[in-house]
Amino acid sequence: MVHEVRGVVARSKGQPVQTETILVPDPGPGEALIGVQACGVCHTDLHYREGAINDDFPFLLGHEAAGIVEAVGPDVTSVAPGDFVVLNWRAVCGECRSCRRGRPQYCFSTHNAAQKMTLEDGTVLTPALGIGAFAEKTLVAAGQATKVDASASPAAVGLLGCGVMAGLGAALFTGNVQKGDSVAVFGCGGVGDAAIVGARLAGAAKIIAVDLDATKLEWARNFGATHTVNASRDDAVEAVRALTDGNGADVCIEAVGNPAVMRQAFFARDLAGTLVQVGVPDPSMTIELPMIEFFGRGGALKPSWYGDCLPSRDFPMLVDLYLQGRLPLDAFVSETIELDAVEEAFRKMERGEVLRSVVVL
Ligand SMILES: NC(=O)c1ccc[n+]([C@@H]2O[C@H](COP(=O)([O-])OP(=O)(O)OC[C@H]3O[C@@H](n4cnc5c(N)ncnc54)[C@H](O)[C@@H]3O)[C@@H](O)[C@H]2O)c1
Ligand SMILES: [Zn+2]
Ligand SMILES: [Zn+2]
Repeated sequence: MVHEVRGVVARSKGQPVQTETILVPDPGPGEALIGVQACGVCHTDLHYREGAINDDFPFLLGHEAAGIVEAVGPDVTSVAPGDFVVLNWRAVCGECRSCRRGRPQYCFSTHNAAQKMTLEDGTVLTPALGIGAFAEKTLVAAGQATKVDASASPAAVGLLGCGVMAGLGAALFTGNVQKGDSVAVFGCGGVGDAAIVGARLAGAAKIIAVDLDATKLEWARNFGATHTVNASRDDAVEAVRALTDGNGADVCIEAVGNPAVMRQAFFARDLAGTLVQVGVPDPSMTIELPMIEFFGRGGALKPSWYGDCLPSRDFPMLVDLYLQGRLPLDAFVSETIELDAVEEAFRKMERGEVLRSVVVL
């Protein structure tokens, strides 16, 4: 059976997205059909519609989602109809050279659904990050759906599907923040604020939020920043050093995707400190550093893909922390919107008015 549902489609580069009728097949082997309940609007969705990811238009956007499993393929045992799940773009294959070496968080061959979703005329849709969840139903690989406690709010926990997980993991896993550490987070959008929350969970003693926008810094304080630096006014590197006894922070997290900020994060570290790059650069960006600084400062420079998370390990645990009141996921939901309001939500995101607009179905 083919399901006829509404979905948000980007037809061509730079054109406003539209809600259209899409066709979603029933799940085949290894697949799951998801009734989407909530899906956050992420910068990556806008990048797709601007043609900045690839040219495989039309795209079915949306990828930070939670919902209910409606049906599964004949061989699927990891989830069952009725399960409440958070979707992910890291369905580890178990077989690639990284998985075989015991490093599934880097899996180089993650799974997506084999069958295609289409427009009514049969045009094949490319789902954003292999998900495509700005839709009433979507088809994913079963490994892209992780069962979590069903009493959680879909709008809040769906955000673990991308940006919030990336930020939390940048601090918890990639940065490996330890009790008593000093941490500086550069860029306090949804990802940076999640890194602040992660640093706090890990027991960081000092959490310095750096942004250009005073409102963002105020929000960062609410998420647990102990100090703030307004980089539109002050020299960010000097300010972080001044707040850490002249030494620099143990862990600096770049959550903008900007070479100037990357440089600041590099130089704002203490000796042997760690720089985590979670902000995604565009392909034209470069960074130049004196080799003696790279060597002399020691430590580690670490890109963070999806916060080095393992959805099957981390989503249930983080949802439990959320339900215990220890992870403020609701605070990332700036507003809930209808499917038709995604284009408008892109505008609010560009103006910096929201952390996350979340489509609720
Ligand atoms: N690594 C991953 O797996 C992953 C996953 C999701 C998102 N991301 C990336 O994380 C980055 C942040 O995402 P977001 O949703 O938080 O975006 P956002 O636009 O909401 O937040 C960016 C923040 O950076 C601030 N900023 C901009 N220029 C700055 C500067 N020069 N100095 C200090 N602050 C500055 C902005 O004011 C804003 O608060 C993006 O590049 C996004 O693509 C990475
Ligand atoms: Zn793999
Ligand atoms: Zn995203």
